[in-house]
Amino acid sequence: MLLAGIFLKCNHNHTFTVSPETRYPVLRDRNFFIETYGCQMNFADSEIVNSIMVDRGMKPTDTPDDASVVFINTCSIRDNAEQKVWNRLNHFRSLKKKRNGDMVIGVLGCMAERLREKFLEKEKLVDIVVGPDAYRDIPKLLAEVEDGRKAVNVILSQEETYADITPVRTTGNGVSAFVSVMRGCDNMCSFCVVPFTRGRERSRPVESVIDEFQQLSDAGYKEVTLLGQNVNSYNHNGRDFAELMYRCSLINPEMRIRFSTSHPKDFPDEFLHVMRERHNVCNYIHIPVQSGNNTVLERMKRPYTREAYLELIDKMRSMIPGVSLSTDIIAGFCGETEEQHEETLDIIERVRYDMAYMFAYSERERTLAHRKYEDDVPEEVKKRRLSEIISLQHGIAAELNQQEIGRRHIVLAEGTSKRSEDQLSGRTDTNKMVIFDKGVCKAGDYVEVEIFDATSATLKGKALSKVLLSDTSPFPAVAL
Ligand code: 5AD
Ligand code: SF4
Repeated sequence: MLLAGIFLKCNHNHTFTVSPETRYPVLRDRNFFIETYGCQMNFADSEIVNSIMVDRGMKPTDTPDDASVVFINTCSIRDNAEQKVWNRLNHFRSLKKKRNGDMVIGVLGCMAERLREKFLEKEKLVDIVVGPDAYRDIPKLLAEVEDGRKAVNVILSQEETYADITPVRTTGNGVSAFVSVMRGCDNMCSFCVVPFTRGRERSRPVESVIDEFQQLSDAGYKEVTLLGQNVNSYNHNGRDFAELMYRCSLINPEMRIRFSTSHPKDFPDEFLHVMRERHNVCNYIHIPVQSGNNTVLERMKRPYTREAYLELIDKMRSMIPGVSLSTDIIAGFCGETEEQHEETLDIIERVRYDMAYMFAYSERERTLAHRKYEDDVPEEVKKRRLSEIISLQHGIAAELNQQEIGRRHIVLAEGTSKRSEDQLSGRTDTNKMVIFDKGVCKAGDYVEVEIFDATSATLKGKALSKVLLSDTSPFPAVAL
């Protein structure tokens, strides 16, 4: 899809149109490469950038080695995420030297927003710096670089949702796709840099999400994950996320829908009703708890208590039998005592999550925690608490997966397994990875699979038959 040309006036006052290619001739037929770090939102954003570049006649490539433009889409959430990016930038710089400078290096995303001066002035590692709301400006910025200038746009927007840009999915499996439905975050959890790097929360119009969903359905995709920093607060002209999800679920009964991420503070019942009613909305909820202690939650500016959280989990489980749950947990937040840490272990044991993302607290500049609290839990204590959390959670996940043995699940085959050409891998409705012998099945098929083996991360199954998703029950297999 080409963006409309711009109108110029010549000396004789004739108006004529200049296509974007003519405005930025430098971009035509060159290769570009994007390397992406961080959350699913970043991967979705890279697909927007792909689209913007391809529209200008550039070609995506899957290696930096033959790329004229190399972008790195970055994450600032923890210090170790940023360190990885610095290492990669050094690598790209040596590549650029080998090519006598004939390569443009750009930093996109959250680090661009956070560290613009450092990239351009102090480190002189990059030519172009673009924040998450300025991707439309990339062609213009590249043209500035070609003119010998460093180019930067990190302006955050109250409106930008890239609603009219159809993402170009170059690295996916052709079966599952991400669709971002909102951008930014207004929650201001005291540890989190996202509200500063991604700006204010805004929702994309329902119609534009539905159009993209329809296009994915027409292109043969079988699964869409609706993305936002907090999908609970999706709201476009009074239309909420439950309505959006319901409408998406009607588009193609053979397409699964997932969503991420939800905040426990305002998880609406309507969501659960839609999940319950619609067979193609997956019974899997990612519901970050962060800590199991009320004082820590208060300091984190997470407006719920452990009791309210546990009640919400009970409600989820009673309304959606067999629902699968995952969470995010931070170990060693400012001021966390040993007893408070024990309460986090306790909540993990009570909930028994199917999966968790677990982190040591990493102080981020500009956040409330940075301004107000001391990062006073020693590094080795953070590490020890984190490893206690991880080993507890892995044990639970292994036990839960053992219970899967003998059950049957409907698995969407996503592609050939990494271990063997003769096997497929895919996920259950409950988001568990299953590996099974290919037989007559291929990527994109729904397959009824019986589980016969399990580790804490993966299930092994036997394919029984290909099925239609619309013939299946709205509930995951509890005991078939
Ligand atoms: N330190 C450690 N983990 C963090 N997260 C967000 N900010 C930080 C931080 N400063 C985690 C939270 C969040 C997930 C996306 O990343 O658990 O839910
Ligand atoms: Fe960060 Fe909290 Fe927003 Fe999640 S909800 S992005 S943790 S501020």
